[in-house]
Amino acid sequence: MFETGSDHTGDGFRHYPVLHREVTEFLTWTAGPMRLIDGTLGCGGHSSLILRANPSAELLGIDRDDDALARTARTLAFAGDRVRLVRGDFSQLDVLAREAGWNSADAVLLDLGISSPQIDDAGRGFSLRLNGPLDMRMDRRSPDSASRLLNRLPEEELGRIFRDYGEVQRWRLLARAVVARRTERLFDTTADFAGFCDDVLGRARPGRLPTPTLCFQALRIAVNDELGELERGLEAARRIVRPGGRLAVISFHSLEDRMVKNFFREAEMDCVCPPKCPICICGGSRATLKVLTKKPVTAAPDELAENSRSACAKLRVAEKIKNPGGME
Ligand SMILES: C[S@@+](CC[C@H](N)C(=O)[O-])C[C@H]1O[C@@H](n2cnc3c(N)ncnc32)[C@H](O)[C@@H]1O
Repeated sequence: MFETGSDHTGDGFRHYPVLHREVTEFLTWTAGPMRLIDGTLGCGGHSSLILRANPSAELLGIDRDDDALARTARTLAFAGDRVRLVRGDFSQLDVLAREAGWNSADAVLLDLGISSPQIDDAGRGFSLRLNGPLDMRMDRRSPDSASRLLNRLPEEELGRIFRDYGEVQRWRLLARAVVARRTERLFDTTADFAGFCDDVLGRARPGRLPTPTLCFQALRIAVNDELGELERGLEAARRIVRPGGRLAVISFHSLEDRMVKNFFREAEMDCVCPPKCPICICGGSRATLKVLTKKPVTAAPDELAENSRSACAKLRVAEKIKNPGGME
């Protein structure tokens, strides 16, 4: 996540990326030439810091959003031909890397979610504060906007989205109300849908996120298949990172963080047999990653004071095991 602030990147933009010190430290552990794949390029804040910290680092920057790529190409111009930017999904990052001529990478970074420019552009439809079309597509070439899903999906599917992606408590009620309302008037703006959620579900209990926030989160995850992307992106990252290389992931809500934690935990296990299995039948020595952050890294007080969005950020980092199979 990216937020306005002071010019930490030295590129003249007044912003800094979340957990920038920690990410830079974890991903500049190796001196000399390194290849970084930034699967969520955004404004290029993290990439910029790493390219500056390591003058022989090369970057393959990936984003689904054409606007982000165009803007960030200018931001990263200082690094010249050390930088290559590609439009695509990070679930395909190993394929995109090979197409760019990289058979492996030293590091992969995924900083999940959307960037400040995306949130702050009312026309993208991500914001609860700014009225705009109910769109929410990171990649504007994909067919299904948020309004299209709301206006077309069957009630059960909508319910599943509100329940699983937003953890909305009265998801059944909301899905039923959406289907009833759209027979009279279709959903088309963010303000309309936010007001509708408030009307149907009422105000959230103290200490809980406002209901429209959860409903927006649910729709955004569905529109962009964010959890599917993450599942496939983690596998793709593990495939392309070289032994001894690193994978860093920043997540912003519990659904994502749980997926990253479980992926890392499983990748660290030598034996993946069911617990009740009396003897090991999987062959053991299966571990592919060593987790470097036993607990997720969170923002330090000075960063929290400067950037409230960093409050939800969790960074997990793992290193690919040099000899999977234990053959040291
Ligand atoms: C939180 S921002 C990244 C900010 C970035 N680390 C920086 O320092 O500027 C996330 C970016 O990743 C992109 N993104 C999210 N999911 C993606 C996916 N599955 N494939 C490619 N890009 C994705 C979004 O379009 C957005 O620009």
